[in-house]
Amino acid sequence: MITTMTFQEEIKQGIPSVLPQAKAYPADANRAPKRKDILSADEKQLALRNALRYFPKEWHQELATEFAQELKDFGRIYMYRFKPNYDLKARSVNDYPARCTQAAAIMLMVDNNLDPAVAQHPEELITYGGNGAVFQNWAQYLLAMKYLSEMESDQTLHLYSGHPMGLFPSSKEAPRVVVTNGMMIPNYSKPDDWEKFNALGVTQYGQMTAGSFMYIGPQGIVHGTTITVMNAFRKVLNKSETSKGKIFLTAGLGGMSGAQPKAGNIANCITVCAEVNANAATKRHQQGWVDELIDNMDELVARVKEAQAAEEVVSIAYIGNIVEVWESFFEKEIFIHLGSDQTSLHNPWSGGYYPVDISYEESNRLIREEPEVFKVKVQETLRRHADAVNKHTAKGTYFFDYGNAFLLEASRAGGDVMAENGIDFKYPSYVQDILGPMCFDYGFGPFRWVCASGKSEDLDKTDAIAASVLEKIMQESPEEIQQQMQDNITWIKDAKQNNLVVGSQARILYADAQGRMEIAKAFNDAINSGEIGPVVLGRDHHDVSGTDSPYRETSNIYDGSRFTADMAIHNVIGDSFRGATWVSIHNGGGVGWGEVTNGGFGMLLDGTDDAERKLKSMLLFDVNNGIARRSWARNSEANFAIKREMARTPKLKVTLANLVDDDILNNLSL
Ligand SMILES: NC(=O)c1ccc[n+]([C@@H]2O[C@H](COP(=O)([O-])OP(=O)(O)OC[C@H]3O[C@@H](n4cnc5c(N)ncnc54)[C@H](O)[C@@H]3O)[C@@H](O)[C@H]2O)c1
Repeated sequence: MITTMTFQEEIKQGIPSVLPQAKAYPADANRAPKRKDILSADEKQLALRNALRYFPKEWHQELATEFAQELKDFGRIYMYRFKPNYDLKARSVNDYPARCTQAAAIMLMVDNNLDPAVAQHPEELITYGGNGAVFQNWAQYLLAMKYLSEMESDQTLHLYSGHPMGLFPSSKEAPRVVVTNGMMIPNYSKPDDWEKFNALGVTQYGQMTAGSFMYIGPQGIVHGTTITVMNAFRKVLNKSETSKGKIFLTAGLGGMSGAQPKAGNIANCITVCAEVNANAATKRHQQGWVDELIDNMDELVARVKEAQAAEEVVSIAYIGNIVEVWESFFEKEIFIHLGSDQTSLHNPWSGGYYPVDISYEESNRLIREEPEVFKVKVQETLRRHADAVNKHTAKGTYFFDYGNAFLLEASRAGGDVMAENGIDFKYPSYVQDILGPMCFDYGFGPFRWVCASGKSEDLDKTDAIAASVLEKIMQESPEEIQQQMQDNITWIKDAKQNNLVVGSQARILYADAQGRMEIAKAFNDAINSGEIGPVVLGRDHHDVSGTDSPYRETSNIYDGSRFTADMAIHNVIGDSFRGATWVSIHNGGGVGWGEVTNGGFGMLLDGTDDAERKLKSMLLFDVNNGIARRSWARNSEANFAIKREMARTPKLKVTLANLVDDDILNNLSL
């Protein structure tokens, strides 16, 4: 049946009153991988019973057969028949049928995360990372959008892993939506628990920003990766040296990893990035994210030597396995200044990391048909990968883990990556050495905003406002953060010409608490004066305070507390009563189910005094909660930052750590 309903009417109806016709998947859709067939026959029945509870009894016979087939074909029930007929994309906030602007802004962000131009597997409601879901199925989407269209400003929608439990009376001050994704009883938080409970339809993997509707496409990752690569070079080079002609070797040209060559170009180096999937490499090349494609090792070696000699700024994709590059460059005596890896090792057994010496196609067959053999091959490759990296680092290469669980999985595979103490890894993570001490501990993190009018002119105006606010703040910034301020001013001034906007009119900008608050206040003033329309503020969960993740965001916490998740929980609760428009807390994220707790917020600025009060209160806490915790963990940069904040904010009183002399402890017999 072709619908004659308008987009607004379709949203307001929620689950349709007449059973829609079954739909065929679009031929060109990038489909999510088929998930594990993990449920017993009884559990499959339970999954179907769970799915059918969204629909009236009369439809059960027909839908049961269809959903059973989906479960068989895809390992999940996506309820594709219920996908709406309208185009999924962020519209202007004024286009959504809503009783309050806050709800309309949330709808805009939800739709943006399902826009085929933004989302990785839009048919399966997956935004990025292979499994980062906005909802588990289309019924949840329809219901949630209907609730949002009915919501008044004293109600809150509670979403349990995509399932809209309902609208509950609250208050104007409360968040409009509370999101939890993948929250489990800790003992049930192993990767196969996700497979099972997700297949049952009772939990989902929200990744970081997918399940909280805050993903804004690749620009977020380009900015973060640029900061990392630039600062990594600053770490290894003398003040007189530049990154020109120096090599950054890494792997992966996928969703996030595809940002590496672009970031390498902005950081002025030679980037060599291996990618086993020729389609992924070609796509990045066509998009202009990587300059050259090479699929032959001799050619790669010759090209790299030429680029070194001419001190070129160039990014080269090698279509093949990363292990081949590490090994060949050692043999050919090519010195690598920076080395890392962004294969998807948070998902090692189902296509996140491909073994060497086996074709891409054969690997995919093994994943489906002989998963145990595949696992052995992956682990062999990981050991070889670690050995090759070790040979280079022995010659002076600086290698860092890029938060993809490379060191974790290499260690589990028996690779030589452990430090002498048997507890730590030989190599730092990018957060331990770079983002942690240089950014997060000072409060700098991936602040972002979306112009809810959908107008690019609004985005231009916000860019200009943000740049002038930062320039003003920089004049009085202490020496310790001058470099960060300058990098971020350069980024925001070039942001438009980097041409990274996909989907909503969004911008990312690393900023500290003061920067975020002053930029947000300036936006609110501009909205009030009618210069721009409403703005949604948010951030990546990969930030100062939002995420507890012992091998990534909190890997530079050394007091033992990196295995706790109090900070992320305090953050989400603290933000929720300080004015966030929506809050979210997730299990999972980039490093894997059970390995991280991460949270975030969204906040609508509408130009009112209320918005100003809320932004000041919430952003101050949202950043300084993490700085306080980092300072208590004895991180000196955070200690500096929190003392500065206390001087600026008399009502902030944070417990400070006393440092004990090593001699006192070393002289004890323990
Ligand atoms: N970019 C960042 O700032 C950042 C931050 C934290 C974590 N990460 C992590 O980086 C990883 C990658 O993320 P993504 O979104 O790009 O994932 P993705 O799955 O889209 O891309 C990974 C790519 O690696 C390729 N690959 C796998 N094994 C390979 C091998 N042996 N040699 C060469 N190529 C290989 C795959 O074909 C794939 O295209 C994730 O684990 C993510 O959590 C990235």
